[in-house]
Amino acid sequence: MRKMRLDRLLARFGISRKEAAALVKAGRAVVNGRPASDPAMQLDLDSDAVTVNGQSVRTDEHFHIMVDKPAGILTATEDGRGQTVIDLLPREWRGVGLGPVGRLDKDTTGLVLLTTDGQLAHRLISPRWEQDKRYVARVEGRVGEREAARMAEGIPLKDFTCKPAMLTVLEAGDDESLCEVTVTEGKYHQVKRMFGALAHPVLSLRRLSVAGIGLDPALGSGGWRELTAEERAHLYTITELEE
Ligand code: URA
Repeated sequence: MRKMRLDRLLARFGISRKEAAALVKAGRAVVNGRPASDPAMQLDLDSDAVTVNGQSVRTDEHFHIMVDKPAGILTATEDGRGQTVIDLLPREWRGVGLGPVGRLDKDTTGLVLLTTDGQLAHRLISPRWEQDKRYVARVEGRVGEREAARMAEGIPLKDFTCKPAMLTVLEAGDDESLCEVTVTEGKYHQVKRMFGALAHPVLSLRRLSVAGIGLDPALGSGGWRELTAEERAHLYTITELEE
């Protein structure tokens, strides 16, 4: 049985202890159809139904969200220096304990997964589980078969040799090329460093999928949504965890 105090549950959604006490006193926090008598009351999260001001309150153990990160936003939970992916969400999502699954550079756009489940996040980014990450990169110069073959072999960098990556050229021009690249690692600046080693500096980078979860094209830059039940089940299955 998953237990939690009523005021702690409400705190997840940005309701302070003082506000929770006031809601209880006013009879506006209702558990299983009856006004709660104590903000410290223990809830059974698996079976209790909670409403505040007539609105039902989510008692899910974990939350999972996808965000289409715009350029200029940091992949962090808080940062005094700039806006983070958490700041893209409405206020009620900010206290539930969401953290990013891996990081994108400040200027990289696209899919960032956020979850409250630390174990799931750990398995999704752990090199041991080798989850695919797919990007579309606009790079300088003409890219072709030769570069695809070198990526497939594994590019040697100064401090390590990359695992084989799959490169598909979408458009090749003398000045710029557009490529799709799939990597199974997530080292710092990895895709930029791989293209840099091939003398094709990255002009822009966008992540399209992580671990088989594709960025929802309907979101648009800065948009977000919760993962669907199928997407959640997929992530727990591939990481061999219980949902
Ligand atoms: N590789 C990079 O170089 N940057 C990112 O943001 C993600 C992968």
